[in-house]
Amino acid sequence: MCLFTVNPFPHTILFMTKSPFCANWFTMGRTPRLVFGVGARTSVVGLLREAEIARVGIVTGASSLRQSAAWKELLNALADAGIAWCDFALRGEPGPAFVDETVQGLREANAQAVIAIGGGSPLDAAKAAAAGFFLEGSIREYLEGVGSRSPDGRTLPVYALPTTAGTGTEATKNAVLSEIGPSGFKKSLRHDNYIARVAIIDPELAVGCPGMVTAASGMDAITQLIEPYVSTAAQPFTDALAESGLMWAGRCLERAVADGTDLEARSGMAYAAYLSGICLANAGLGVVHGAASPAGAAVEIPHGVFCGTLLAASVRLTVERLDESDPAHAAALQKYARAGVLLSGRDRGSVAANCAGLIDELERLTEAIGIPRLGGYGFTADIARAVATRTDGKNHPLVLDQESIEQLLLSRL
Ligand SMILES: [Fe+2]
Repeated sequence: MCLFTVNPFPHTILFMTKSPFCANWFTMGRTPRLVFGVGARTSVVGLLREAEIARVGIVTGASSLRQSAAWKELLNALADAGIAWCDFALRGEPGPAFVDETVQGLREANAQAVIAIGGGSPLDAAKAAAAGFFLEGSIREYLEGVGSRSPDGRTLPVYALPTTAGTGTEATKNAVLSEIGPSGFKKSLRHDNYIARVAIIDPELAVGCPGMVTAASGMDAITQLIEPYVSTAAQPFTDALAESGLMWAGRCLERAVADGTDLEARSGMAYAAYLSGICLANAGLGVVHGAASPAGAAVEIPHGVFCGTLLAASVRLTVERLDESDPAHAAALQKYARAGVLLSGRDRGSVAANCAGLIDELERLTEAIGIPRLGGYGFTADIARAVATRTDGKNHPLVLDQESIEQLLLSRL
């Protein structure tokens, strides 16, 4: 893939009553301005200058990026441009305590924008801190299902540079924050305005990403393409993006895991992950992500591992139970079949054969790239039961009862 840019899609609402495409009407939220391609990272300072930004906060993860040439290159470019910066390093999962500290630092520095560089966790922390800059009290008070206050939508502009290809948070309007433990939570700060101003996706930034992280992040992206594609809120616009993302992920995930320096594979996965963020923000998610929130609050497990390990089993369970005599279910089966063709690159001829092909391909991929099971992360049968009681089925094409969700989790213990 060559370097390219895409201007933001404005927020649109399309009314399509009695449309042949979907049941009623759909909306597409705003997307970031996108700068995509090898070397895209060097555009960030020019974009800051274009916006007349003189003071910026930088949020990163705690480890490898800060040892890299890209980090030194960024700081030198900021210094050359006369842009002052303060920086914040996130250790582990993003939680309210880190975000509140970062907000304090951004205010003391009188920051005008935030650069977010790293995996999904630092990007989420940066988005939350950019919003928290304008909010009274702790960010915790504004989290869905945790606090009682509503965010007002003001935010510092965020320039998002993902270094992993998975969560798609560079394209979404929410930031997921968590605290782990018996009274833990994994919940979103959300507002339409919390979309990053610019997503700068440079596949070269992912070259140092370890194979296991590449594998888990990639499976998260695939889950975030399949779940919106078969969602009860699916719509033609996101369907087109999901189809493109699944094709690229099918071609590129194993290559990116096998050889982290394969820039074409890194590009394909970065592109698929970005599309997955747009898809989930506009068409919703399914039962795997419904379970991921309570699971992430109960045990420390990488989000991508959780989603990746459950994806094939959830598709198998759903496909087996969908009733093809029901028009909505038949439409979902056709989607699963199409996903099977795109992901595997092979058309097996019929809906049933391609649904089976999707399940086979997901099971093969899960093994081939070494996605672990849940047990190694302290997940137990008791936790599975508790998570099942707290799972929101979201927009899954089939309503699954608590016992079925528990069995799904136990099947990957
Ligand atoms: Fe996800």
